[in-house]
Amino acid sequence: EEAGVPDVVCSFMETVTAIVLAAMLLRRRGPRRHRGWVTRVAIAPVALLVALLTLVGSAAGAAAMPVAFKAAPAVPGEPSIPVTALTEAPGPQPVDRFTLTAEVRRIGGHEAWTFNGTVPGPELRVRQGDRVEVTLVNHLPAPTTVHWHGVPGLPDAEDGVAGLTQDAVPPGGRFVYDFVAREPGTYWYHTHQDTGGQLPLGLFGALVVEPRGGVAQARDHTVVLHQDGAAVAMNGVTGTLRLAARPGETVRLRLIDAVVPQMDGTPETPVLIGASYRVVALDGRDLDAPGLLGPERLVLGMGQRADLVFTMPMSGAVRLVDGEEHGKPSLLQRLFGGPTARFASALIGDGPAPAVPDLGRLPVFDPLHYGAPALDPITTHPADVTFPIVIDEAPGFRDGTIQLVHTIDGEAAPYVPPITVHEGELVRLHIVNRSGEYHPMHLHGHTMSAVARDGVPVRGSPIHLDTLLVGPHQTWDVVFLADNPGLWMLHCHVLLHARMGMSMTVDYAGVTTPFTMGSRSGNIPE
Ligand code: C2O
Ligand code: CU
Repeated sequence: EEAGVPDVVCSFMETVTAIVLAAMLLRRRGPRRHRGWVTRVAIAPVALLVALLTLVGSAAGAAAMPVAFKAAPAVPGEPSIPVTALTEAPGPQPVDRFTLTAEVRRIGGHEAWTFNGTVPGPELRVRQGDRVEVTLVNHLPAPTTVHWHGVPGLPDAEDGVAGLTQDAVPPGGRFVYDFVAREPGTYWYHTHQDTGGQLPLGLFGALVVEPRGGVAQARDHTVVLHQDGAAVAMNGVTGTLRLAARPGETVRLRLIDAVVPQMDGTPETPVLIGASYRVVALDGRDLDAPGLLGPERLVLGMGQRADLVFTMPMSGAVRLVDGEEHGKPSLLQRLFGGPTARFASALIGDGPAPAVPDLGRLPVFDPLHYGAPALDPITTHPADVTFPIVIDEAPGFRDGTIQLVHTIDGEAAPYVPPITVHEGELVRLHIVNRSGEYHPMHLHGHTMSAVARDGVPVRGSPIHLDTLLVGPHQTWDVVFLADNPGLWMLHCHVLLHARMGMSMTVDYAGVTTPFTMGSRSGNIPE
């Protein structure tokens, strides 16, 4: 079965061929009359060296790119379903059509990789229950895809993971994504081909699904936090972003953290100043009975979202800040220069802006004790299966270099054994962070219910996430209902960590993929 052969097998075959060829060559060159043990003794070390070098070279080449995730074990006697068959069923829904053209643009003196010429790409806004049909047109010099981050019930064939759910779309090619927006909420989209290389160049944008009955607030603004060089920007603005609102109006702010973190994965800490507010949703999923908050530091790992609702004061603007305005330069920055303040600000409404307090002294928002408990059948029923997910880092060999390899259960992608689940199962993950870094762990295609952090149960509103921020040395227990057959990625959203190995899949038994990853296929999901 040609298509199913992972690239690593090809590398292995190449190595064997190279060794055989080298051996044959050496044998032919051996002087006839010295054949025998002398020849063998002379040739053996050379042959060994060639074999060794080829092996090392091949291993380096193979390690340079993830090749393929281990396939789920076949279920004897059960038919297998290819991911390509897991599409959205035809239906009578109204269709919202969009075209995302991936193209290179110069923005502010930099080369950016964009959807439709802007960073972030256009906000896609649809109504709950609508069918979303997006045509990706690739005008980039490299293959690319679109992944729909967090969309509940997304069919696997529409997930946009290069080498797992589709082949990356080549330059000049196009691909149509088609899914129903079943749940309202704040989501986002981004490339899932060479994510660590392409996303930071600008290939991302917001996806907002409005509730069937419309948005309850008078104003509904999305704020995408992202990078602009070393600075943090909001919706493409590095200075002060302006958002319209009149005194007394209710405002919904949809925050999306698309900032590519530093190596330690440090999350963003946006703060709203000038109005008391409620955190009404996390990762697009509503919280129950959210209480009023004063200025607090929200903690958002890359990929996470938070929706805030507040009422505009009768005079003056409301301010959203992210970063440290008075950040002290590090030793490295003092020695070599570079930006000292990563600070972005948005003003909502007109009039005098509230002063920025000492952000470091503000309390930190803790979702574990926020809102009121409500029935969550996912966490009240005992789980059917539990899997430990131990995330760690250790020096090792990867990408042809010695680096801090980021591991899950002791292995780095693509060699982390998948979790195999069956439709209908309640799956519990016991996530243990053995490292001193932050890891926003993102599960594709599913919603995780938080159960406990460091053994302390969730006491407030049920918390439903697609991206779980696991702090240094923290432990989390989460449960998800396996209700969406497919092959789904579970990975750290710190793009560097994912590329260094912190990535695996959750495989439904019997689902297969015809796609592979690696240099041969050109598919590089991370
Ligand atoms: Cu936001 Cu696997 O992605
Ligand atoms: Cu990480």
